[in-house]
Amino acid sequence: MGSLEGKVVIITGASEGIGACLAASLRRRGARLSLNARNEAKLSRVAGLDDLIFPGDLTEASVPSTLIAKTVERFGRIDILINNAGRGLYYTASTTPLDEARALFELNLFAPLELTQLATPHLRQTRGIVVNVASIAGHVSLPWLPVYSASKFALAAMTSAQRTELRRAGVHVMGVFPGYVNTEFQMHAAGPMPPERVLQGKRFAISPEECAEATVHGILQRKRTVVAPRKGWLLIWANWLFPSFVEAQLERALNG
Ligand SMILES: NC(=O)c1ccc[n+]([C@@H]2O[C@H](COP(=O)([O-])OP(=O)(O)OC[C@H]3O[C@@H](n4cnc5c(N)ncnc54)[C@H](OP(=O)(O)O)[C@@H]3O)[C@@H](O)[C@H]2O)c1
Repeated sequence: MGSLEGKVVIITGASEGIGACLAASLRRRGARLSLNARNEAKLSRVAGLDDLIFPGDLTEASVPSTLIAKTVERFGRIDILINNAGRGLYYTASTTPLDEARALFELNLFAPLELTQLATPHLRQTRGIVVNVASIAGHVSLPWLPVYSASKFALAAMTSAQRTELRRAGVHVMGVFPGYVNTEFQMHAAGPMPPERVLQGKRFAISPEECAEATVHGILQRKRTVVAPRKGWLLIWANWLFPSFVEAQLERALNG
């Protein structure tokens, strides 16, 4: 995709954090935006005059289909779907309440799956792009985030499957794997706050603007995968090559 001028982009989770920065970056490049999140007031503050805003909880029936329908009604096409809305859940595996685990999967996995299914007929016409915002926790299972990690591993698996499935139709599917990003993500996560030693990775945090720029460059280059920051690859590779070593480090972070 050489230019983003005039492209119609849906961004979920656009009211703040990475999603809001994606909206700003894509708008600067001339994209036409359809923005979703639950909080209408925050969404309106982030939106530009020509953006479509559709407030709604993506885990509620009919919200994903209405988002797609309203976007097509307003702009007549969809070029890019960015599945960015997501949430954390801080518990150990043995203490995670099952209803909270299921609710997390509704947002982090099933909403992107449904949105992609609904958008695919439109993306086939434009040879468009699906962007799934996963996490480094979708490559390395992080302490205190077992169900969140599982939801992002599942999203990463879905991303690979969708890429294979849609390639011949000209639709590209990209996975984004951020490390720590300085947003309110941790405050918004459900469950008890973990001990500080578990959150050591925060010292490598990047800004949401940096994460959004890396994602937009990935879109422009139709990359398979974006890891932001790029040094996140070190953890991913270490986990592939030396899984016992990485597990020992994570166990130390978990138990002190
Ligand atoms: N921050 C990090 O360190 C980090 C690291 C790796 C991956 N990620 C991933 O990056 C993505 C964005 O995270 P962020 O850091 O920008 O988080 P954030 O600041 O908490 O923003 C999350 C966005 O999702 C929206 N949202 C939450 N629940 C929703 C629902 N049920 N329906 C529709 N929208 C909903 C929120 O808006 P409303 O509250 O208005 O609905 C908000 O706009 C997530 O998928 C997250 O898992 C973040």
